Amino acid sequence: SDGECIGLEEWKAKAKVGDSEHPFIMVKAVVLGAAGGIGQPLSLLLKTNPAITALGLFDIVNTPGVAVDLSHIDTPAVVVGRLPPNDGLKEVLTGADVVVIPAGVPRKPGMTRDDLFKINAGIVKDLATGIATVCPKAFVLVISNPVNSTVPIVAEVFKKHGVYDPKRIFGVTTLDVVRASTFVAEIIGKPGAAPDVVVPVVGGHSGVTIVPLLSQSSHPLPADLAKDKFDALVNRIQFGGDEVVAAKDGAGSATLSMAYAGFEFANKIIRAVKGEKGIVAPSFVALEADPAGAEALSKDLGAKLAFFSSNVELGPNGVVKIHPLGKLTEAEVALVKAAVPELREEHPDGAFPVLPLL
Ligand code: NAI
Repeated sequence: SDGECIGLEEWKAKAKVGDSEHPFIMVKAVVLGAAGGIGQPLSLLLKTNPAITALGLFDIVNTPGVAVDLSHIDTPAVVVGRLPPNDGLKEVLTGADVVVIPAGVPRKPGMTRDDLFKINAGIVKDLATGIATVCPKAFVLVISNPVNSTVPIVAEVFKKHGVYDPKRIFGVTTLDVVRASTFVAEIIGKPGAAPDVVVPVVGGHSGVTIVPLLSQSSHPLPADLAKDKFDALVNRIQFGGDEVVAAKDGAGSATLSMAYAGFEFANKIIRAVKGEKGIVAPSFVALEADPAGAEALSKDLGAKLAFFSSNVELGPNGVVKIHPLGKLTEAEVALVKAAVPELREEHPDGAFPVLPLL
């Protein structure tokens, strides 16, 4: 009646059969906000990953239709879409291994970070409450902006429910990484090399908190790159989202590139869950996930922060190691210095928070 494509029991049964057909650990991925601009293409991409055997879609609108549409694709994932009535969120989250959250409103021209925060913080808090209650062991991948503030909210909700594991909560900063690869490939005159260009992007996920460590790029910038060109490149990586917001002219922010980036990061988590070693990706995490790593990082930063995005090594239980920043140029030290106070400010309650729930 709410547009379900198959019943829950049938879904569960289907999602659990097939060990012999699919020689991999079965993974249930869930998208919250699955009918949105990011949610739909992200769900499509997740449906193409054969390692995912069950895909749960939740939104306040349209998920039954999105789910039936995706369910016709001949990949293993059994898809179910639910709406809020009849415990739809609970049903979708049951048994989830990886939950990706792109729910919320996107930035429109003229909107401040605070405007966005006021709306999205409440949405993220409600969804995090659902996860903490139904599938507290799931890996939570937060896309909803402002990530620098929404990730601490998820952490706080999990703490309130006594199920907090900082190793399993991630802010998705992959779009900054993807943009850095693309823009660096352009600058070095090899756009085709973009998939191989690796640039660590650290800090956070908004404006000046986005710190590309271009000196550590797998593909070095030209030695004679003029300072204004270098500064423009850094600025483009930091404010790439504005290009999209302006080009969409009131119709929203990055959706397709974000879906790609979210898919990339979710795949890394899934590969790590399945036991692949040595997977490293930048992600915005609570530094208490790796106290030794946090100590080293604090020295690099000259400050103690509760959350930061650095290269993170992933394992079957989430964060294995938070890497230090490595050798920085003078320009990069200046970028980090500019990012730190902004990150503090964007934390809902300062660097070491006791977060008041909204
Ligand atoms: P959208 O408006 O197209 O989609 C958001 C979806 O969330 C809608 O389908 C809406 O119905 C749903 N939703 C709203 N309240 C909900 C609730 N309580 N439970 C479940 N679903 C709910 O927005 P879009 O463009 O997909 O962006 C989503 C979020 O992602 C925004 O916060 C945006 O700022 C953020 N974003 C993050 C990026 C990143 O790099 N981390 C990049 C681009 C956007």
